[in-house]
Amino acid sequence: MRICLSIVALALLLMLASHESLADDAKPYTIQNGKVDKGTYNGYRRYGDACMRCHGPDGAGSSYAPNLTDSLKHLSKETFEETVINGRKNVTTSNDNVMPSFGTNEDVVTYLDDIYSYLKARSDGVLDRGRPTRIGDDS
Ligand code: HEC
Repeated sequence: MRICLSIVALALLLMLASHESLADDAKPYTIQNGKVDKGTYNGYRRYGDACMRCHGPDGAGSSYAPNLTDSLKHLSKETFEETVINGRKNVTTSNDNVMPSFGTNEDVVTYLDDIYSYLKARSDGVLDRGRPTRIGDDS
């Protein structure tokens, strides 16, 4: 009976361990020696075009809009997407900062995964500020 239990415990441990490595594999970005995959690089560019004027360089926030590298530490990908597509108005304080809706902006909707990957890499602390280099590019 006791042996049986330890086998069950061992099996559970193995399952947990493999689950953890699966979660690692599921990162939305790839970073090798500080260089990023094509999608993440594209996300950086799209972010610069559509989001930076409010959320600041590198996702770091401004006096007007929140720091997205902090936000993505607790926002799910679904909430992120929902917020960008539908927008949001801050109703809890007296200021009227507005997150516009990007639902009809093809340059954003089409590349929302890439924008998420870029911001997630920034949020996870694995990507420095500034323009990233693509994997395979020397410059
Ligand atoms: C016109 C300024 C503006 C632009 C452009 C803008 N945002 Fe926002 N965003 C805001 C403001 C202001 C808030 C906070 C709204 C609130 O408090 O309800 C916000 C909130 C958010 C949130 C929720 C953060 C949290 O912590 O809950 C996300 C995610 C977000 N923006 C992503 C984006 C992305 C991605 C883009 C570019 C596609 C973008 N925003 C472009 C102003 C902007």
